[in-house]
Amino acid sequence: MLNEACTYVIFGATGNLSRVKLMPALYHLEMENRLPEGSKILAVGRRDWGNDKLIAEVREMIEAKARGGIDEELFKRFSARLSYSKVNIDVAADYLKLAQELNDNGHYPSNMAFYLAISPEYFADVIEKLSNAQLLEESSGWRRMIIEKPFGYDLESSQALQKRISRYLKEEQIYRIDHYLGKGTVQNVLVFRFANIMLEPIWNRHYIDHIQITHSEEMGIGSRADYYDNAGAMRDMLQSHLLQLLTLVAMEPPASMDAESLRDEKVKVLKSIRPIPKQAVNAYASRAQYSEGIVNGEKVKGYLQEENVPPDSVTETYAAMKLYVDNWRWRDVPFYLRTGKRMAKGQSSISICFKQPPLQFFQDTQVQCMNPNWLLLGIQPEECIRMEMTVKEPGLEMRTRTTSLDASFRNKNETHTDAYEDLLLDVIEGDRSLFLRFDEVEYAWRIVDPILQKWAVERDFITTYPAGSWGPKECQRLFETDKQYWRSSLTAPKCN
Ligand code: BG6
Repeated sequence: MLNEACTYVIFGATGNLSRVKLMPALYHLEMENRLPEGSKILAVGRRDWGNDKLIAEVREMIEAKARGGIDEELFKRFSARLSYSKVNIDVAADYLKLAQELNDNGHYPSNMAFYLAISPEYFADVIEKLSNAQLLEESSGWRRMIIEKPFGYDLESSQALQKRISRYLKEEQIYRIDHYLGKGTVQNVLVFRFANIMLEPIWNRHYIDHIQITHSEEMGIGSRADYYDNAGAMRDMLQSHLLQLLTLVAMEPPASMDAESLRDEKVKVLKSIRPIPKQAVNAYASRAQYSEGIVNGEKVKGYLQEENVPPDSVTETYAAMKLYVDNWRWRDVPFYLRTGKRMAKGQSSISICFKQPPLQFFQDTQVQCMNPNWLLLGIQPEECIRMEMTVKEPGLEMRTRTTSLDASFRNKNETHTDAYEDLLLDVIEGDRSLFLRFDEVEYAWRIVDPILQKWAVERDFITTYPAGSWGPKECQRLFETDKQYWRSSLTAPKCN
């Protein structure tokens, strides 16, 4: 598709997200020839940088991430698009200067995407000030606003934020990012489900016992205490990324792949989730915090010893919950979601456990190994779709073992593109299907709000788990039966 030239204006361009994700993604789009000719990138920040300093910094950002190392010719082409503007985001006059710069000299294409890679408390103020400086008005080209998560802190604050920004922006101008939707393996969940008919007849409560969605990290919170200690794992990962994964697994086939049809189906799933009553929170959710331990052979600090974490913090670094989607397809099938920092292994996966077949057929044989069928969708780092089946062991006896059918996602020579590349390109193309509509965000908050409210008042104590483990033992209690257990490995289990 031939896109018109545009200007990417990145607020918070000197910060971490820009360093680790945005600049490398834009460079890779350059590499793929996907940045329309004449497009520019205006980096906006509080620091006293000039263009030369920006380019030197961006070079470092890219050196650290570029596929196949930095290519000098390509970097020259890319850096010709870059410039820096110092803006204090609290100062209205700085936006007028910014507007002048963007409008006046014909250097910047008038289709503009504003990326707010800044602390969420500034979202509404920046949008208001951009609007006051006439920068959101679309008379000479499109204006799009990309907002990072978290969108609000809970249901009420997300509604207040929405109310405020919708004074200045139409919904079509708002691109709420959930970077999980930009991951190829996540998009593959939809392709796998809706481009193959084989699984559809069994993709429901009659054949599926339960579904697990796990995101675990070996990393701790690093230098993000200021943000993380106020957020916690439930807000940081579950309310956003993991609920999005759940919608893709549970949704009905959309009428088409256009943004509204897709998002309508996702909202239907979120709306069908059985509300968790406040008094039953403990039966549906579990939280914990890492204490010191060993990750990858190295001794690491506990959460309370991390830089800038208050010594009495009860913020959860691990959260798990059980949900039911009350519709015809899923009624009474538990969905178990969990996430944690400083866990035994970094991995994201969706594990679908099917029901056991009736066993009578094997009753008088030596068959002992009858694991249920699992379908494992590895999101990262292992990218796979694996169906575990029971087969006969070779030999004279009637013994069985578990084997798996693999539908691998990537061939050896195929490159890995980062989620942000996909999403930054979608913004240029005006495709909002992988961005969140406000009602999705709103319903996601509705689901977790009772849990957050209960946790907010119970602040005396939090269970701990040693760093490098799979989380607290007590979260086993979320399971409906003692046959269910957290599936942490993507390799077929041995028979006991
Ligand atoms: C971010 C969270 O949204 O997602 C981080 O704020 C988390 O805490 C990250 O580490 C995980 O993303 P990914 O792509 O590394 O799995």
